Amino acid sequence: MSVEEAVRLLGGGEVVALPTETVYGLGGVIDRPEAISRIYALKGRPHGHPLIVHVYDDAEQVAVVDSRARGLIEQLWPGPLTLLLPRRASVPDAVTGGRDTVAVRSPAHPLIRLVLQKLQRPLAAPSANRFGRVSPTRAEHVAEELPGVPVLDGGPCAVGLESTIVDLTGETPALSRPGAIDRETLERLLGPLTESLAAAPGMLKAHYAPQTRLILCSPLDLSSTVAALRAAGLRVAVMPRGTDLQADAAALYDQLRRLDDGRFDRIATALAPERGLGVAINDRLRRAARGSAPPEQR
Ligand code: TXA
Ligand code: MG
Repeated sequence: MSVEEAVRLLGGGEVVALPTETVYGLGGVIDRPEAISRIYALKGRPHGHPLIVHVYDDAEQVAVVDSRARGLIEQLWPGPLTLLLPRRASVPDAVTGGRDTVAVRSPAHPLIRLVLQKLQRPLAAPSANRFGRVSPTRAEHVAEELPGVPVLDGGPCAVGLESTIVDLTGETPALSRPGAIDRETLERLLGPLTESLAAAPGMLKAHYAPQTRLILCSPLDLSSTVAALRAAGLRVAVMPRGTDLQADAAALYDQLRRLDDGRFDRIATALAPERGLGVAINDRLRRAARGSAPPEQR
């Protein structure tokens, strides 16, 4: 599919999966109720879970932008940073789940930027996976998970983890979701951040869940953990982890999907160092591990 075709479908109120630098999003223009309902239906997402809005560059279209937000936008947009801000009344309730806030970001992938530029309307685009599953980082992932949905193929996503979310709706900025823009970078621009008190709906402890149970350990314990599981008769896949955190993050969801095809009883991997991008990698690994555990162990 071409950019022009994607723009035509979206403008007509249809839903199209779009590449961003983080993960693929399931896009629909925010002012077409049928597009928004279709996004919820395709994802199997509970109503009331708000959707991220993507803009070409102007957050004012959907949000009230204060000086803190302005500073972040100048330094870090376009890029993998979502801001939680007071909404404008023009944003439909169906998009914000009826909240008085809106999550907004300006994505960096050149294809979604072309789409946004040509459409000249903000797009709601949650990750293009079914509710609770691993986010897609390649066009093939979307085609497997949401068959029949048109996909604009932009290749593998460079970042591979969902955007960092910063909550600027309160007096103290809060980190709602770790991502490629790390805490250190944000604190240099904003001062100290708190963890988000009210975790975003959808930011469930068990999320990003593979079907195969995921086992996490420290790098030093990986081989003994794998040996013990194998000795117990389990088929164990080891998910390789490199020393380059960016490459690890970009490959993470693709690896999880490939290993999660019924060949194994367990997927084992080591946690990343708890700094920079490692914080976001470990956050997703822990959610995936919880989501894959039997219900009584979550
Ligand atoms: O990188 C990303 O952010 C990707 C790409 C496609 O842009 N999108 C993404 O969307 O991860 P989604 O819907 O899977 O995650 C958005 C998170 C959800 O946990 C949602 O609950 C939260 O943002 N969120 C959105 N609007 C919100 C609001 N008004 N208040 C609180 N949380 C909100
Ligand atoms: Mg998601």
